[in-house]
Amino acid sequence: MAEAVDASFRYLTTADLEAIATYLKTVPARHDAADSKPVDAWGAAYADLAGVRGQALPKTAADMTGPQLYDAYCSTCHQARGEGSFDGGLPPLFHNTATGRSNTDNLVMAILDGVQLHGHGSTLQMPGFAGELSDQQVTTLGNYVTQHFGNPSAKVSVDQVRTLRAGGAASHLVLIARVTVAAIIVILAAIVLALGRRRRRPHAEAPH
Ligand code: HEC
Repeated sequence: MAEAVDASFRYLTTADLEAIATYLKTVPARHDAADSKPVDAWGAAYADLAGVRGQALPKTAADMTGPQLYDAYCSTCHQARGEGSFDGGLPPLFHNTATGRSNTDNLVMAILDGVQLHGHGSTLQMPGFAGELSDQQVTTLGNYVTQHFGNPSAKVSVDQVRTLRAGGAASHLVLIARVTVAAIIVILAAIVLALGRRRRRPHAEAPH
């Protein structure tokens, strides 16, 4: 959504924005049935970093725990207790739609690609961690973040991270386009075959 605002909606005229708002007010509110309360109403400040600070990290990075990953990659900006810093333009991770929604795709994408918005006065940007964190690490970290700062029943899975890293699930439109193209090829082939047969027939029936 942030990308839509950044690259598109902020360029709309006031009249268009008002028209969209007027239309939206006429459609009934919808929400994901799995969301049991407003997505920005979850979580609170939380820290269990004291137990990991000063301790040796595991030999393999894949074995790093949620608090270790959070401490190493997120806490400098979002702070040890996830409270962020409004003065510094750093959002808290609790009461945050990306951590409170039962669908965790936005959270995974924020970790993989970061959040880079332009032209809204802020020079602060979140870097992406796709190059540094493995699918397993993003999963461990994502689950730590939803567990403590967001909706604890919202889960991140390794398969989900792998799919999103590769660009997301294939769109139904792609499947429909493939089936349509295949159907057109079959129909064209049938027509060519039928025409070929019709052309050959007069030869067979020609008088000797
Ligand atoms: C260099 C500072 C920095 C680091 C490090 C950082 N973030 Fe962020 N993060 C930000 C900023 C700034 C924003 C807000 C961007 C905006 O809305 O313009 C943000 C936004 C977010 C959001 C909200 C995304 C959304 O779509 O609204 C989540 C969730 C998040 N960060 C999680 C994390 C996690 C998890 C880590 C650790 C891997 C992390 N961040 C590391 C600076 C950082």
